[in-house]
Amino acid sequence: MAPTEAVKRLVVLVSGSGTNLQALLDAIAAEGPERFGARIVAVGADRHSATGLDRARAAGLPTFVCRVKDHPTREQWDAALAEATAAYQPDLVVSAGFMKIVGKEFLARFGGRFINTHPALLPSFPGAHGVRDALAYGAKVTGCTVHFVDDGVDTGPIIAQGVVDVVEEDTAEGEAALHERIKDVERRLLVDVVRQLARHGYRIQGRKVLLPA
Ligand code: GAR
Repeated sequence: MAPTEAVKRLVVLVSGSGTNLQALLDAIAAEGPERFGARIVAVGADRHSATGLDRARAAGLPTFVCRVKDHPTREQWDAALAEATAAYQPDLVVSAGFMKIVGKEFLARFGGRFINTHPALLPSFPGAHGVRDALAYGAKVTGCTVHFVDDGVDTGPIIAQGVVDVVEEDTAEGEAALHERIKDVERRLLVDVVRQLARHGYRIQGRKVLLPA
Protein backbone atom coordinates (compact mmCIF):
# COMPACT_ATOMS: atom_id res chain seq x y z
CA MET A 1 0.00 0.00 0.00
CA ALA A 2 1.49 3.31 -1.08
CA PRO A 3 1.42 6.34 1.22
CA THR A 4 -1.01 8.98 -0.01
CA GLU A 5 -2.92 11.80 1.60
CA ALA A 6 -6.23 9.90 1.22
CA VAL A 7 -7.88 8.45 4.32
CA LYS A 8 -7.70 4.67 3.92
CA ARG A 9 -10.83 2.52 4.00
CA LEU A 10 -10.84 -0.37 6.51
CA VAL A 11 -13.13 -3.36 6.70
CA VAL A 12 -12.80 -5.17 10.05
CA LEU A 13 -13.80 -8.84 10.44
CA VAL A 14 -14.81 -10.18 13.88
CA SER A 15 -16.23 -13.31 15.50
CA GLY A 16 -16.34 -12.44 19.18
CA SER A 17 -16.34 -9.62 21.69
CA GLY A 18 -14.66 -7.13 19.36
CA THR A 19 -12.48 -5.29 21.87
CA ASN A 20 -9.75 -4.94 19.24
CA LEU A 21 -12.34 -3.43 16.90
CA GLN A 22 -13.38 -1.08 19.73
CA ALA A 23 -9.77 0.00 20.22
CA LEU A 24 -9.60 0.94 16.54
CA LEU A 25 -12.94 2.76 16.71
CA ASP A 26 -11.82 4.68 19.80
CA ALA A 27 -8.44 5.67 18.36
CA ILE A 28 -9.97 6.84 15.08
CA ALA A 29 -12.64 8.80 16.96
CA ALA A 30 -10.08 10.38 19.28
CA GLU A 31 -7.54 11.30 16.60
CA GLY A 32 -9.94 11.87 13.73
CA PRO A 33 -9.76 9.82 10.51
CA GLU A 34 -7.49 12.36 8.77
CA ARG A 35 -4.81 12.26 11.46
CA PHE A 36 -5.19 8.54 12.02
CA GLY A 37 -5.01 7.94 8.27
CA ALA A 38 -7.96 5.55 8.07
CA ARG A 39 -11.58 5.02 8.88
CA ILE A 40 -13.63 1.86 9.29
CA VAL A 41 -16.21 1.61 6.51
CA ALA A 42 -17.84 -1.69 7.52
CA VAL A 43 -17.60 -4.58 9.98
CA GLY A 44 -18.20 -8.19 8.93
CA ALA A 45 -18.67 -11.35 10.97
CA ASP A 46 -19.10 -15.09 10.48
CA ARG A 47 -21.91 -15.26 13.07
CA HIS A 48 -24.82 -13.07 14.16
CA SER A 49 -23.88 -13.40 17.84
CA ALA A 50 -20.54 -11.57 17.54
CA THR A 51 -20.66 -8.71 20.07
CA GLY A 52 -18.35 -6.84 17.74
CA LEU A 53 -21.36 -6.29 15.47
CA ASP A 54 -23.11 -4.38 18.28
CA ARG A 55 -20.03 -2.22 18.69
CA ALA A 56 -20.10 -1.46 14.97
CA ARG A 57 -23.81 -0.60 15.01
CA ALA A 58 -23.28 1.63 18.04
CA ALA A 59 -20.66 3.48 16.01
CA GLY A 60 -23.16 3.86 13.16
CA LEU A 61 -21.28 1.52 10.83
CA PRO A 62 -22.75 -0.90 8.30
CA THR A 63 -22.33 -4.59 9.15
CA PHE A 64 -22.57 -7.85 7.27
CA VAL A 65 -22.69 -11.49 8.33
CA CYS A 66 -21.41 -14.34 6.19
CA ARG A 67 -21.97 -17.75 7.78
CA VAL A 68 -20.27 -20.91 6.52
CA LYS A 69 -23.44 -22.92 7.10
CA ASP A 70 -25.45 -20.71 4.75
CA HIS A 71 -23.32 -21.83 1.80
CA PRO A 72 -23.18 -25.23 0.11
CA THR A 73 -19.38 -25.37 0.15
CA ARG A 74 -16.53 -23.68 1.99
CA GLU A 75 -15.35 -22.26 -1.35
CA GLN A 76 -18.72 -20.61 -1.92
CA TRP A 77 -18.64 -19.16 1.59
CA ASP A 78 -15.17 -17.79 0.90
CA ALA A 79 -16.30 -16.22 -2.39
CA ALA A 80 -19.35 -14.69 -0.67
CA LEU A 81 -17.18 -13.26 2.11
CA ALA A 82 -14.84 -11.79 -0.50
CA GLU A 83 -17.78 -10.26 -2.36
CA ALA A 84 -19.37 -8.80 0.77
CA THR A 85 -16.02 -7.31 1.82
CA ALA A 86 -15.24 -5.98 -1.67
CA ALA A 87 -18.57 -4.13 -1.71
CA TYR A 88 -17.01 -1.64 0.74
CA GLN A 89 -13.88 -1.14 -1.39
CA PRO A 90 -11.38 -1.49 1.46
CA ASP A 91 -7.72 -0.51 1.17
CA LEU A 92 -6.99 -2.78 4.13
CA VAL A 93 -8.93 -5.64 5.71
CA VAL A 94 -8.34 -6.35 9.41
CA SER A 95 -9.09 -9.72 10.99
CA ALA A 96 -9.62 -8.78 14.65
CA GLY A 97 -10.61 -12.00 16.38
CA PHE A 98 -12.13 -13.44 13.19
CA MET A 99 -12.02 -17.18 13.88
CA LYS A 100 -12.13 -18.47 10.31
CA ILE A 101 -9.45 -19.32 7.79
CA VAL A 102 -10.20 -17.60 4.50
CA GLY A 103 -9.69 -19.36 1.17
CA LYS A 104 -8.26 -18.78 -2.29
CA GLU A 105 -10.83 -16.30 -3.56
CA PHE A 106 -10.55 -14.02 -0.53
CA LEU A 107 -6.75 -14.09 -0.70
CA ALA A 108 -6.77 -13.48 -4.46
CA ARG A 109 -8.65 -10.25 -3.84
CA PHE A 110 -7.16 -9.08 -0.57
CA GLY A 111 -3.78 -10.81 -0.26
CA GLY A 112 -1.10 -8.28 0.68
CA ARG A 113 -3.69 -6.01 2.29
CA PHE A 114 -5.28 -8.42 4.75
CA ILE A 115 -3.86 -8.42 8.29
CA ASN A 116 -4.61 -10.56 11.32
CA THR A 117 -3.91 -10.27 15.01
CA HIS A 118 -2.98 -13.46 16.85
CA PRO A 119 -2.61 -13.97 20.63
CA ALA A 120 0.84 -15.61 20.64
CA LEU A 121 4.37 -14.94 19.43
CA LEU A 122 4.30 -16.53 15.98
CA PRO A 123 5.61 -18.80 14.62
CA SER A 124 4.97 -20.41 18.02
CA PHE A 125 1.43 -21.47 18.85
CA PRO A 126 -0.55 -20.74 15.68
CA GLY A 127 -4.22 -21.72 15.39
CA ALA A 128 -7.35 -21.21 17.39
CA HIS A 129 -5.83 -21.79 20.86
CA GLY A 130 -2.68 -19.69 20.91
CA VAL A 131 -3.03 -18.67 24.57
CA ARG A 132 -3.89 -22.14 25.88
CA ASP A 133 -1.15 -23.80 23.82
CA ALA A 134 1.56 -21.42 25.09
CA LEU A 135 0.46 -22.07 28.69
CA ALA A 136 0.34 -25.84 28.22
CA TYR A 137 3.83 -25.78 26.67
CA GLY A 138 5.22 -23.98 29.69
CA ALA A 139 6.38 -20.89 27.80
CA LYS A 140 7.77 -18.14 30.05
CA VAL A 141 6.87 -15.38 27.65
CA THR A 142 4.10 -15.14 25.09
CA GLY A 143 2.32 -12.19 23.50
CA CYS A 144 0.68 -11.16 20.27
CA THR A 145 1.56 -10.89 16.60
CA VAL A 146 0.06 -8.71 13.88
CA HIS A 147 0.82 -10.22 10.49
CA PHE A 148 -0.25 -10.32 6.88
CA VAL A 149 -2.43 -13.30 6.06
CA ASP A 150 -1.20 -15.86 3.53
CA ASP A 151 -2.54 -19.30 2.63
CA GLY A 152 -1.21 -20.97 5.78
CA VAL A 153 -2.54 -20.85 9.33
CA ASP A 154 -0.95 -17.76 10.95
CA THR A 155 2.13 -18.09 8.72
CA GLY A 156 2.20 -14.76 6.85
CA PRO A 157 4.86 -12.03 7.10
CA ILE A 158 5.06 -10.50 10.57
CA ILE A 159 4.44 -6.76 10.95
CA ALA A 160 4.84 -6.32 14.72
CA GLN A 161 4.85 -8.28 17.97
CA GLY A 162 4.23 -7.52 21.64
CA VAL A 163 5.62 -9.57 24.53
CA VAL A 164 3.78 -10.58 27.71
CA ASP A 165 5.32 -12.49 30.65
CA VAL A 166 3.69 -15.73 31.75
CA VAL A 167 3.50 -15.69 35.56
CA GLU A 168 3.14 -18.48 38.15
CA GLU A 169 -0.60 -17.80 38.53
CA ASP A 170 -1.18 -18.45 34.82
CA THR A 171 -2.12 -22.10 35.25
CA ALA A 172 -4.34 -23.73 32.63
CA GLU A 173 -7.34 -22.35 34.55
CA GLY A 174 -5.78 -18.91 34.24
CA GLU A 175 -5.96 -18.88 30.45
CA ALA A 176 -8.59 -16.14 30.52
CA ALA A 177 -6.47 -13.91 32.79
CA LEU A 178 -3.40 -14.35 30.59
CA HIS A 179 -5.49 -13.68 27.48
CA GLU A 180 -6.73 -10.42 29.03
CA ARG A 181 -3.13 -9.29 29.69
CA ILE A 182 -2.24 -10.20 26.10
CA LYS A 183 -5.25 -8.31 24.75
CA ASP A 184 -4.18 -5.22 26.67
CA VAL A 185 -0.92 -5.21 24.70
CA GLU A 186 -2.59 -6.46 21.51
CA ARG A 187 -5.14 -3.66 21.25
CA ARG A 188 -2.42 -1.01 21.43
CA LEU A 189 -0.23 -2.91 18.97
CA LEU A 190 -3.05 -3.32 16.44
CA VAL A 191 -3.96 0.37 16.63
CA ASP A 192 -0.31 1.36 16.16
CA VAL A 193 0.13 -1.02 13.21
CA VAL A 194 -3.04 0.06 11.40
CA ARG A 195 -2.17 3.75 11.88
CA GLN A 196 1.38 3.14 10.61
CA LEU A 197 0.27 1.13 7.55
CA ALA A 198 -2.45 3.63 6.69
CA ARG A 199 -0.35 6.75 7.14
CA HIS A 200 3.00 5.68 5.79
CA GLY A 201 2.35 2.68 3.54
CA TYR A 202 4.48 -0.49 3.50
CA ARG A 203 6.25 -2.97 1.27
CA ILE A 204 6.35 -6.73 1.63
CA GLN A 205 9.62 -8.33 0.48
CA GLY A 206 9.45 -12.07 0.94
CA ARG A 207 8.96 -12.59 4.66
CA LYS A 208 9.97 -9.04 5.54
CA VAL A 209 7.49 -6.21 6.00
CA LEU A 210 9.25 -2.90 5.34
CA LEU A 211 7.76 0.08 7.16
CA PRO A 212 9.05 3.58 6.40
CA ALA A 213 10.43 5.29 9.53
C1 GAR B 1 -7.79 -11.64 20.20
O1 GAR B 1 -6.95 -11.96 21.27
C2 GAR B 1 -7.24 -12.22 18.91
O2 GAR B 1 -5.84 -12.26 18.86
C3 GAR B 1 -7.81 -13.62 18.95
O3 GAR B 1 -9.11 -13.45 19.40
C4 GAR B 1 -9.14 -12.34 20.32
C5 GAR B 1 -10.28 -11.44 19.92
O4 GAR B 1 -10.58 -10.53 20.93
N1 GAR B 1 -7.73 -14.23 17.67
C6 GAR B 1 -7.39 -15.51 17.48
O5 GAR B 1 -7.20 -16.29 18.39
C7 GAR B 1 -7.28 -15.91 16.04
N2 GAR B 1 -6.58 -17.16 15.93
P1 GAR B 1 -11.65 -9.39 20.70
O6 GAR B 1 -12.87 -10.05 20.05
O7 GAR B 1 -11.95 -8.88 22.06
O8 GAR B 1 -11.04 -8.36 19.82
